[in-house]
Amino acid sequence: MLEISFAKATLPKEGVLVLPWAEGTALAGQAAALDKSLKGGLARALEAAAFKGKAGQSLTLYAAGPYKRILVLGLGKAEAPRAAETLGGRLAAALASEAEASLLAEDLTPAQAAAAGLGARLRAYRFDVYRTTLKPDEAPKLAQLKILCADPHAAEADFTPLAAVAHGVEFTRDLVTEPANILYPAEFAKRAEGLKKLGVKVELFDEDDLKKLGFGALLAVAQGSARAPRMVVMQWLGASSHEGEGKKAKKPKDPLVFVGKGVTFDSGGISLKPAGGMEDMKWDMAGAGAVAGAMAALAGRRAKVDAVGLIGLVENMPSGTATRPGDVVKSHSGQSIEILNTDAEGRLVLADVLHYAVQRFSPKYMVDLATLTGAIIIGLGHEYAGLFANDDELAAQLTTAGALVGEKLWRMPLAAPGEAYDKELNSPIADVKNIGGGRAAGSITAAQFLQRFVDKTPWAHLDIAGMAWATKEAPVTPKGATGFGVRLLDAFARGFED
Ligand code: BES
Ligand code: MN
Ligand code: ZN
Repeated sequence: MLEISFAKATLPKEGVLVLPWAEGTALAGQAAALDKSLKGGLARALEAAAFKGKAGQSLTLYAAGPYKRILVLGLGKAEAPRAAETLGGRLAAALASEAEASLLAEDLTPAQAAAAGLGARLRAYRFDVYRTTLKPDEAPKLAQLKILCADPHAAEADFTPLAAVAHGVEFTRDLVTEPANILYPAEFAKRAEGLKKLGVKVELFDEDDLKKLGFGALLAVAQGSARAPRMVVMQWLGASSHEGEGKKAKKPKDPLVFVGKGVTFDSGGISLKPAGGMEDMKWDMAGAGAVAGAMAALAGRRAKVDAVGLIGLVENMPSGTATRPGDVVKSHSGQSIEILNTDAEGRLVLADVLHYAVQRFSPKYMVDLATLTGAIIIGLGHEYAGLFANDDELAAQLTTAGALVGEKLWRMPLAAPGEAYDKELNSPIADVKNIGGGRAAGSITAAQFLQRFVDKTPWAHLDIAGMAWATKEAPVTPKGATGFGVRLLDAFARGFED
């Protein structure tokens, strides 16, 4: 993990320096001192490279004066959203082969200095658990970043909660990256149990518990696998109204409830997926991963909010005990479901967990995250997650939170029960079937299916199938598991803190 520290803005005497350069900046302060120590070499280099400080522009000087390397990074317009965070990310990418660096941040506000630290830490993430050797050019060496700023104490104070969020994102990325032979439901549950260390109340439900609760839909997905299912309920009770209450007496009041799809591997079941790309289905638990990471973030920064995370954990496999297309099962809600396609399994898992969450916690708002449909990737690609909601206020708050942290949402249609789209799910033999008529509007009919299990709760469904895994790097996200949803839920929860 990249270690971030903050110190007074004095010019280091050697090492690797990073100089952020906002558009229209003049040589002043630290930059002027640096230029002077280089006998005007910095000004000449900027001039020769026609460096204007545009976002993304960069200039490297090696062996300049006493410094091993000076990296000048364009900040663009300093007040642009997430300019400092993006700069931090670019810094981490450019300096991956350096052991340590100093960021000259005297012109950044404490909040911007902290955001640069967050961006750097998020981009410096790597998952090396299974590598016994690293190629030299791959070695993640950037271990320390010193941020030199005008008010290090204020920057540090701003960074502390961001470090908790970064930890949540890293926790999620680790879960999502783990292969399915290592991370199966019981192992995921065990790792979620680790959140107890942060003060989260964690309950585990095993197969027998789920049978007793009547989770017939979730269990139908799990029954083909040798790996038994789990549900995990995580409660963070941070609202200040609990102050003075005994630990045991605490119960969530009008909580925010987050529900995650945790299919640790989705082979499709008897409706088997094609071989090509099936390995991607190890990350079909990214919704559950994001919920666990968000709970880690909220607890880590002692958020003054009551939040409950519930994750349904199953492996979807074909076998002699697997659910057959055409089987009818009874869900926790009491509704019978005709399972026509065993590959439409995420909605079966969510149906039971959502309904249980509604009954037990009476959520103020409920949000589920799921890599639910390939169709959402066809519709929105890898830019926006699909947002479906039965409540405009909730949809607006989620969209705003997402925009704030760069996890963008695009609202999709959701019809009232009994209307078009919803009607597609009527079954001739049961209360509902788990797929619509054809391939048309696949993401919408999936959301309509979920809606049948949330009663009147203000609820939103985020289809993150296009966002959970990246094949291209972005400023604060290396290739691979993104951790999408953690920062979004954290920012959303911030709107409810007292
Ligand atoms: N986990 C998949 C959706 C998915 C596809 C996520 C690609 C990430 C990348 C989901 O369980 C699924 O298989 N959905 C089917 C639904 C269909 C059978 C109605 C799909 O999208 O094809
Ligand atoms: Mn599937
Ligand atoms: Zn799936």
